[in-house]
Amino acid sequence: MRTEIVPVNAATLARAASLLRAGEVVAFPTETVYGLGANTFDAASVAKIFAAKARPADNPLISHIADLAQMDALVARVPEQARPLMAAFWPGPLTLIFQRAKGVPDIVSAGLSTVSVRMPAHPAAQALIRQAGCPIAAPSANRSGRPSPTTAEHVLADMDSRIPLILDGGPCGFGVESTVLDLTGDVPAILRPGGVTFEMLSPYLPGLQVDDAVLRPLQEGALARSPGMKHRHYAPRGQVVVLRGKPDAVALRTKALYDKALDEGKRVAILCSRALSGDYEGRQIRVLGADAGEMAANLYDALRGLDAEGMELILTEATDTGGMGLALMNRLLRAADFDVMDV
Ligand code: TXA
Ligand code: MG
Repeated sequence: MRTEIVPVNAATLARAASLLRAGEVVAFPTETVYGLGANTFDAASVAKIFAAKARPADNPLISHIADLAQMDALVARVPEQARPLMAAFWPGPLTLIFQRAKGVPDIVSAGLSTVSVRMPAHPAAQALIRQAGCPIAAPSANRSGRPSPTTAEHVLADMDSRIPLILDGGPCGFGVESTVLDLTGDVPAILRPGGVTFEMLSPYLPGLQVDDAVLRPLQEGALARSPGMKHRHYAPRGQVVVLRGKPDAVALRTKALYDKALDEGKRVAILCSRALSGDYEGRQIRVLGADAGEMAANLYDALRGLDAEGMELILTEATDTGGMGLALMNRLLRAADFDVMDV
């Protein structure tokens, strides 16, 4: 199959929508990361997503809507506490988990009794959903186990010859996936942190929890509330190590580890904040940004770049977990397979 990459405009949106209606999959931009979409209600089309990504069948997909009326066919019941969240944060990077309606194919929910829904804010995503005339089931448009794509080029690198069309809407604004919030349990819980932060949600949800698996490896025998948590994610081929401690100590140890690796003939790089970049003069560095939001937005592109350069060791700093820092640390820890060094 030839994969075409086209800029978003009226003609290409119409083409993408007609491919979706014909049962094909299409990659499209959202404000978080690029998605690989199919008609939620067409199980055979959704199966093509799993095949193109080589995604484990036990990992459910998010359905994307452009209109609240599309909820009716997806969700059995909207709990009271969801309404103000939908009003405040939709459209935007917040995914809500509900009890699913009967018509949702098993493959979308990976057999669970729940379904996850989000209303993306990106105009191209909204237009595509409207023109397709159905909710679009879409995971991130990467091969399973690779960092999520934040540009159309990232999608092409993973999906070339596996899908017919990529809508190119430029780089994604947030650069990390949506916040996943579970409202089906006794206590509301963030299963995956993202652009709608804990601090933004907690005024609406007293007792809001952050799931244990957000900053720690899933304990042996523990049930993954979000099946995605048990699969290794965001994994570059090289080893990633997160250094945690006072900035001076982190910089000192990072330099020592870098220089040692270089002596051993290893390809090594440092991923850092603007604040520490001055400490690493003469070394191979990538500055992610000045704050957690900027750092999160640039993380996946940096990991893909370092991977392409064949880096064997990537040293990076821990950030605090307030605001977007929680999403950034969640992704960094997973990229590092929880290899953290306290200094
Ligand atoms: O920002 C995003 O959410 C992007 C864009 C394309 O919208 N999508 C995305 O999808 O990140 P994906 O499939 O890569 O990640 C969805 C995560 C997975 O960890 C999955 O296990 C979890 O959400 N999830 C989906 N449905 C669920 C459900 N019913 N119960 C628990 N977890 C669910
Ligand atoms: Mg994904």
